[in-house]
Amino acid sequence: MKNKKPWGGRFSGATSALVEQFTESISFDRALAPYDIRASIAHCRMLGRQGIIAQRDARRIERALREIGREIEAGTLAMEARCEDIHMCIEARLIEKIGPVGGKLHTARSRNDQVATDVSLYLRDAILNTRGLLVELDRALVELAARNMDAVLPGFTHMQHAQPVLLAHHLLAYHEMFARDCERLESCYRRVNRLPLGAGALAGTPYPVDRRFVAAQLGYPAVSANSMDTVSDRDHLIEFSSAAALIMMHLSRLCEELILWSTPEFAFVEIADAFCTGSSIMPQKKNPDVPEIVRGKTGRVYGNLMALLTLMKALPLAYNRDLQEDKERLFDTVTTVQGCLRVFAPMLGSLRFNREAMRAAAAGGFLTATDLADYLVRQGMPFRSAHEVVGRIVAHCERAGTSLFELDQRALQKFSPAFGADAPACLSIEASVASRRCEGGTAPARVRAAVRAALKQLERRRQSVERELIKINAP
Ligand code: ARG
Repeated sequence: MKNKKPWGGRFSGATSALVEQFTESISFDRALAPYDIRASIAHCRMLGRQGIIAQRDARRIERALREIGREIEAGTLAMEARCEDIHMCIEARLIEKIGPVGGKLHTARSRNDQVATDVSLYLRDAILNTRGLLVELDRALVELAARNMDAVLPGFTHMQHAQPVLLAHHLLAYHEMFARDCERLESCYRRVNRLPLGAGALAGTPYPVDRRFVAAQLGYPAVSANSMDTVSDRDHLIEFSSAAALIMMHLSRLCEELILWSTPEFAFVEIADAFCTGSSIMPQKKNPDVPEIVRGKTGRVYGNLMALLTLMKALPLAYNRDLQEDKERLFDTVTTVQGCLRVFAPMLGSLRFNREAMRAAAAGGFLTATDLADYLVRQGMPFRSAHEVVGRIVAHCERAGTSLFELDQRALQKFSPAFGADAPACLSIEASVASRRCEGGTAPARVRAAVRAALKQLERRRQSVERELIKINAP
């Protein structure tokens, strides 16, 4: 009977077509196909080695699985809803190819530990690839900073002019965010990197399996501990989704600044034509669509995280079919975050900063007022009093419609006799930036050192991703 289910033994009635459509996951879990083949081959070898099935059968099954793997690559494997999911679909094809001996593959495993293993293999790849893309994006950012070392702009708080900073310093703030994102992915990876297979349906398996052999075959340094936790744990999906949500939040903040900075009111930056689109009605328009879409996609990654957290809330041990709902959220998060990272790196490389506009904005307000107060502090005045004096100077300038730069020593002395001949010099933007030499400050020497350290760190991270990819994909 063609429509017979692998679990059909205890059933006398056929599944309703509506239920088949409602419960299937083949329409999305086909993304797991290559991982399912890989895990099944490792499992089958172990079964043969342990004498759980005959070596001859194990070899036949492995050969057929490899053929099915090629059918999947070529897109010729039929995947229908009545197969339910990718695991059953591959098993059905196996039995179709080599007959009942194919039915021995599912000895000592359940779809519950099988799906946990497939997702874990998928997630390992996804994390490493995301880390690789993040490193490339971060490198584009740090190189952008290095190319613009001499540019200054107003630093903002409350979106009001605050103090002048180097553009490179501003950009490197995002490097710190991406560096933390990278660490989060590394840490989450360590918890994904444990083999679930062998947990069985929930209680383990009575066969003399060798989980460590399977782990070694699949490049896992360890096997999972409690079988009940193993088949129902989705922490690692949530951890990854949360790391992805933070990556998106950081990208979205940067997007917001790029969108703002490319308005004619700011005109700090120009995004290359290749990363913008026009309007169907307004001929003059050049819209920053890439940062806008990235900012928009942040919401869907947050949504996926919330969906997973809500999915897991109050699920009793062990496997429950609710868990099937985890995959689309995970796959969508991986595709979305990787797509954003991929387009972002070259877009950053295309940015042209307008140094004159940034410098003019930095010179426009009263950005070095704090420096003037600090001057008075160096002459022995308490900071609070210095703040008061300079506040009065700013109010005076505002009334007179002048800037701090126009004040000479005589003008300053009207507000305090403590102003010496060297006072006006501390009002310059360059002096202000250069004076912030503390660790983590915007002084050029600090920022140059930060660029060098970032490039070194990025190279180490790139190599570590490459080494790990080789390790887990070794045959
Ligand atoms: N498609 C299922 C999932 O994604 C596979 C596991 C099914 N297990 C079961 N006991 N029905 O979770």
